[in-house]
Amino acid sequence: MNDAELYQSSNALQKRDACQCLEEFAATIKWKNSGDRIIDIGCGDGSVTTNILKKYLPHNYKEIVGCDISEEMVRFANEKHSNFDTKFIVLDIEGKLPEALRRSFDHAVSFYTLHWIKHQESAFSNIYDLLSEGGDCLLMFIGHMPVYDVYRLLARTKRWRYWLKDVDRYVSPYHDSQEPEKEIKRMMEKIGFTNVDVKSKHSSYVYDSIEAVKKAVKAVNPFKIPKEMYHIFMEDYVNILRDMRFIEPVNNNTDGSVHVRFSYSLLVVSAKK
Ligand SMILES: C[S@@+](CC[C@H](N)C(=O)[O-])C[C@H]1O[C@@H](n2cnc3c(N)ncnc32)[C@H](O)[C@@H]1O
Repeated sequence: MNDAELYQSSNALQKRDACQCLEEFAATIKWKNSGDRIIDIGCGDGSVTTNILKKYLPHNYKEIVGCDISEEMVRFANEKHSNFDTKFIVLDIEGKLPEALRRSFDHAVSFYTLHWIKHQESAFSNIYDLLSEGGDCLLMFIGHMPVYDVYRLLARTKRWRYWLKDVDRYVSPYHDSQEPEKEIKRMMEKIGFTNVDVKSKHSSYVYDSIEAVKKAVKAVNPFKIPKEMYHIFMEDYVNILRDMRFIEPVNNNTDGSVHVRFSYSLLVVSAKK
């Protein structure tokens, strides 16, 4: 998950979903239209921050700060994307918030990150504290994703039990929830957010080859599988995808080519301080 170069070349799904989210919800953000300060939480390689998010900002915004827990991601993002109004910093959104960052932003956004966080309330409290009075947030993260079931099945096998022993650490806290919208709204209102709106959106993404899936999975793989075992891990992973019928033959299967379809739900949250 720290390989910015790999992530940059295999995050088509994340980019598409960030675009769709901003296309639908950027208009609900209450821009000041002069001097807006924006923080992008879990910015990764910085490409969504600079190539996608920026297109939706008012032209006279003041600054964008991307933050990420990974030093490698932040170094890469600064090398590729920083300039006079854009910088990237290391920050664990689940940890203790530096005093200097409190109330420093008019808007907080986050794409494909908050499902990594176990202590949801700590992260959402920090987002609240990052915002100035009247500030707002737009957050998109994974709710239910069948890929987590693939990990859980692998974690039950003798071969992968040890390497995936902390599998639930990496499953979205909302994967098994019946009513994640209500859960999140309740938590955010307890923190102090107002105008909380939580939507669950169904989506699907089709990879046009097994190789493309393998690359995308590798780019976000959280498990420390030894290098020499990784290709076996991926073979077992793909076999489970096949058993779960995620792999579909195309062209009447005359040339053996396949599509791999992932259906999942995203949670899109907007709220005000
Ligand atoms: C899948 S990437 C998403 C990157 C980018 N937002 C995008 O949409 O392409 C998730 C990022 O969240 C970061 N992350 C995970 N836990 C975090 C935490 N506690 N605080 C800040 N960032 C975190 C990871 O390092 C990773 O770069």
